[in-house]
Amino acid sequence: MILIFLGAPGAGKGTQSELIAKEFSIPQISTGDILRNEVALVTDLGMKAKAYMDNGELVPDDIIIQIIEKRIKNGDTKNGFILDGFPRTIKQAEELDSMLQKNNLSISKVVFIDVQDEVIIERLSGRRVCPSCNAVYHIKYNPPKVENICDKCGSKLIQRSDDHEDVIKRRLQTYKENTSPLVEYYANSMRLIKISGEKDIMDIFHEILDELLNIPK
Ligand code: AP5
Repeated sequence: MILIFLGAPGAGKGTQSELIAKEFSIPQISTGDILRNEVALVTDLGMKAKAYMDNGELVPDDIIIQIIEKRIKNGDTKNGFILDGFPRTIKQAEELDSMLQKNNLSISKVVFIDVQDEVIIERLSGRRVCPSCNAVYHIKYNPPKVENICDKCGSKLIQRSDDHEDVIKRRLQTYKENTSPLVEYYANSMRLIKISGEKDIMDIFHEILDELLNIPK
């Protein structure tokens, strides 16, 4: 099963794709996590990407496509994978289609999580993440058991450097200009599942799961 999670920043792509990845025992591939890891390791790629990320802009397509091409070749993707935050432009989507076609693969479904802007700002301002294992929390809606400590690995949680209101607004603008056209791109090929992201996290998970279990084999 090859899935794409699509939606605005803060829509819940990471939260839901982590749950679905666990359910189907397939890897969750987040381009945001890969880039943040490169930034933390101070690699050339990380240094190039950082300026774009801090400004709420997209990292250039050629860099991202190379990252995905390399990651998909890992042995853990044999039974499928989830793309969380990729593609984000029509060019990335076209490149992905041809990359998959070359390997006789195709996208099973694109899960589009729909959330209004006002909700997004509240979600991202309250988000806390684990810098070690990338687990995602929210101070109000999804708090860790012990304040500011990751349930999974015990590390101290942090706030992402792009989760401040001015950068959030720029990320939303970038999403509208570059990524939202993908909703139509995938709807045209009948691959889109649209889910309202303004419900309880587990209700959304079950709704997505029901849709995915209905995919013809
Ligand atoms: P990335 O890390 O992908 O950021 P994003 O798309 O902005 O998405 P987020 O991670 O902010 O949100 P999410 O939808 O995963 O929400 P989450 O589940 O965490 O990318 C960062 C940057 O990297 C980009 O800006 C760009 O520069 C670059 N980049 C990455 N991919 C790229 C690409 N393909 N091309 C070019 N550049 C790229 O949830 C958010 C919060 O809400 C959490 O606190 C969560 O606990 C809470 N929450 C989730 N669901 C609910 C719910 N139902 N109810 C209440 N709270 C909820």
